[in-house]
Amino acid sequence: MIIESILTTLDAGGAVNFAPMGVEWGEEEIVLKPFLETTTFRNLQATGAAVVNLTDDVMLFAQGAISNAQFPAAPATVVRGVVLEAACSWREVRVRSLDATPPRARVVTGVVHRGVRREFLGFNRARNAVLEAAILATRTHLLPPDQIRDEFARLQVIVDKTAGPREREAMALLTDYVRLAPAAR
Ligand SMILES: Cc1cc2nc3c(=O)[nH]c(=O)nc-3n(C[C@H](O)[C@H](O)[C@H](O)COP(=O)(O)O)c2cc1C
Repeated sequence: MIIESILTTLDAGGAVNFAPMGVEWGEEEIVLKPFLETTTFRNLQATGAAVVNLTDDVMLFAQGAISNAQFPAAPATVVRGVVLEAACSWREVRVRSLDATPPRARVVTGVVHRGVRREFLGFNRARNAVLEAAILATRTHLLPPDQIRDEFARLQVIVDKTAGPREREAMALLTDYVRLAPAAR
């Protein structure tokens, strides 16, 4: 099963990177699949550690998908890395093996620490819709503009029915972004 997370990694100099990533979940082992051109991949190669943050705040997925976002975070417990303030829980992981076959690496990691910060209240339809919209926002260069527009219209109906203010704000951010993003040709 793929679980959507916010992955935090450090570069060799200690600069923090935040990126939404779907990870193959396991209790002892988590598989990361970053594209080779991502900062996440370069950091994993350089430092061999990461924190898999689980959060119900979809704003982080929206901002992380469309910008080089920075979020409040504190040092991790065991690995050299950081835990999001917005994390409900997290896993600290170390790289066991790294297969850099293009276009997408397969990085097998071992869980070395687990932490819990607050209750994961749950996902709902609007949060799920924002996640789908965030993925679409990372694919504007690949998909026809009509398809993006149609899917956003469908997702907006769900947001209008079931969102709170945070989800509405995240959806508005993504809608503005895809309106201005260069289209696929
Ligand atoms: C929900 C979600 C899941 C994502 N999963 C992945 C993934 O598994 N691998 C990947 O390379 N990019 C994934 N992305 C896209 C990355 O977040 C995006 O390319 C990001 O810019 C990479 O950041 P980085 O260069 O700072 O590492 C995902 C995006 C979203 C919104």
